[in-house]
Amino acid sequence: MKKILVSVILTLAGLIGLFIIYIYSGSYNVSQLAHHNAITQWAINTTKHRSINAHDADIKVPPLNDTSMIIMGFKHYNEMCVTCHGGPGIEPDELAKGLYPAPPKFYKSDDMPDTTEAFWITKNGIKFTSMPAFGPTHSDQKIWAITDFLLNKLNKMTPEEYQQWKVKYAENDD
Ligand code: HEC
Repeated sequence: MKKILVSVILTLAGLIGLFIIYIYSGSYNVSQLAHHNAITQWAINTTKHRSINAHDADIKVPPLNDTSMIIMGFKHYNEMCVTCHGGPGIEPDELAKGLYPAPPKFYKSDDMPDTTEAFWITKNGIKFTSMPAFGPTHSDQKIWAITDFLLNKLNKMTPEEYQQWKVKYAENDD
């Protein structure tokens, strides 16, 4: 029993040593252009989904599909999200093309987040990606407005309507 314990401890110490040597060797490539291998990708995706599901479980969803909230959400989306996520007839900006993981395009996507996920991610951001947390700068009310626009209006708009809303609402600051 004692022998097994000693060999387990030695193996663990060896693995930690190898890990530290690997870190100091500089051979890991931190470039945005060096994409994750399949195992790392699986670990990141699974951690992300499990974490968000665990953390958004107690969020109470207020009444949505509200015109004035959707208009407020549009202004924020147009100001802060369209650069990375694009919109109706609008491609993500150049800056977004160099990001890894790439920001998903929401317009006409068939893989939209659900309501509590969209709220939680917009409020908290996602670690190790370029998805920012808007919670430190925006009230829950504004984040719900963005969520309402994202899930209940964006995909129903035409590129023309989006441009009309820009002229009509985007100039008025909130
Ligand atoms: C600087 C770029 C950037 C900006 C600005 C940005 N995002 Fe993101 N966003 C990302 C990236 C990158 C991801 C993907 C992260 C990942 O793959 O884990 C993401 C993911 C998301 C997701 C999860 C999508 C899904 O299907 O899981 C939501 C929701 C989201 N963003 C909402 C927003 C909203 C709302 C705004 C504006 C208030 C915004 N983002 C602004 C980069 C950005």
